[in-house]
Amino acid sequence: MPPSFRQASLAWLFSSAAPSLAFFKVPCSTPLVIQRADPIVQPGVASGHVHTIMGGSGFGFTMDYNMTQTSQCNSCSAVEDKSNYWVASLYYHAENGSFIQVPQNGGALIYYEQRPDPTTDGTIVAPPAGFRMVAGSPIDRSDKGNIASYARNFACLNYNAPGTPQTHGFPTTNCPNGLRAQVYFPSCWDGVNLDSPDHKSHVAYPTQTYDNGPCPASHPVRIISIFLEITWHTEQFADMWYGDEQPFVFSFGDPTGYGLHADFLNGWDIDVLQDAINTCHDGGGDITQCEPITMQPDWVTDGCIVERSINEQIDGWLDALPGCNPIQPGPEDAKPVTGCGAPTTIGEPLHYYTDLTDSHDWEWVGCTRDNVGGQRVLVGSFGGISDMTPAKCVDKCFAEGYTFAGVENAHECFCGNSVDEDKMPTVTPMGNCMWPCAGDNLQKCGGYGFIGLYRKCDGGCSNLQYPVVPH
Ligand SMILES: *[C@@H]1O[C@H](CO)[C@@H](O)[C@H](O)[C@H]1NC(C)=O
Ligand SMILES: *[C@@H]1O[C@H](CO)[C@@H](O)[C@H](O)[C@H]1NC(C)=O
Repeated sequence: MPPSFRQASLAWLFSSAAPSLAFFKVPCSTPLVIQRADPIVQPGVASGHVHTIMGGSGFGFTMDYNMTQTSQCNSCSAVEDKSNYWVASLYYHAENGSFIQVPQNGGALIYYEQRPDPTTDGTIVAPPAGFRMVAGSPIDRSDKGNIASYARNFACLNYNAPGTPQTHGFPTTNCPNGLRAQVYFPSCWDGVNLDSPDHKSHVAYPTQTYDNGPCPASHPVRIISIFLEITWHTEQFADMWYGDEQPFVFSFGDPTGYGLHADFLNGWDIDVLQDAINTCHDGGGDITQCEPITMQPDWVTDGCIVERSINEQIDGWLDALPGCNPIQPGPEDAKPVTGCGAPTTIGEPLHYYTDLTDSHDWEWVGCTRDNVGGQRVLVGSFGGISDMTPAKCVDKCFAEGYTFAGVENAHECFCGNSVDEDKMPTVTPMGNCMWPCAGDNLQKCGGYGFIGLYRKCDGGCSNLQYPVVPH
């Protein structure tokens, strides 16, 4: 950052009369879904590039505030925040031209920072229902040298060395503890529009630096400052660098990092967010000290996933980035590419579980916690199956005369005839049952302490609905 901006920023910190620098952090765990969806920029269609999406399970290809409120679970830990947050996914680009997704470290951390406008009475408002915005632009391939471009950057994590300066493009050395992308959203609002054609011009950055100071007259309403961090395990590729360039690309074909962008679609309970803005003053950002907000357990946030519905491969080794995303290194702005043959339609949801209704007349019930306090969900019989798949477990339980089968820990099969009501799966925490099966790594066989339940269809499979409230 040029000295002029840094000085402006510090000047505001020191000259404002006791500004409140309180904040609270909303941790988001395993992403809700990774796919080509973007209900803000490209509603109703398969979006141009792959996104890593966090937040409420009400997420869809087309959505409004009401849909956020139908969420049955949430990958972020504040119950009252059913917002969605998304960023482009990161890929490693191999020397032979293939791509593979870089695993994420957790989900994301969302900072809600109370930064009042020093020229006003200090009021900070919660963005209203229906509010949405985008920070950054996927066409950027060079440093634009303006406040909006400084609002997004990268931290090259190395916990055993002094911090290296943050960069606006991808770091050019390996980051031993991963690569953290950071996006600061605009905190000045025009006070009228919930969105705008470019999804940006209804909001603005403060006039002197992106994260503090006065708002422009055109956008006089100070909203809560939202700052998003997301970290990728780029260090897992440390010995796979080649040539003169760093080897990572965003899903939209950006090898520079300047196209880093993030989207926010408000799904908060607005009154709760306003209450939190007014009352949560922990200087360390500890959300558990924020009384208006209810936290939920990790197994609920980790387990909260939604099914993909674009039928294309997005992980494993790929010949090309999903969508039409040739590498465009810049420095001129990237040009949109279409018509490369990538799927454009939104299909039926792709189930994570194995559908055994036709082949076995057994149906998927859901994923639930097992062995809580030593209590097993299925108590009929138990056995390990070295080459287990859901079908093999169901066959075993059927042969033994049982009506429920449960797969767990990749290779364990449990059978029984009933499940206590309080052990029944909730609809959404499927994400806890995503371990690859011992006998087929493309199918899922429960998890550690989580059992994936199948049930013999009793006069027709029924797609039963189980309680949606986590218990
Ligand atoms: C949400 O639903 C309510 C009740 O159906 C409706 O009055 C309201 O206009 C909807 N809001 C949005 C943002 O769609
Ligand atoms: C490309 O290189 C990667 C990394 O070495 C390798 O795992 C992958 O199989 C290669 N893909 C092809 C198509 O050769």
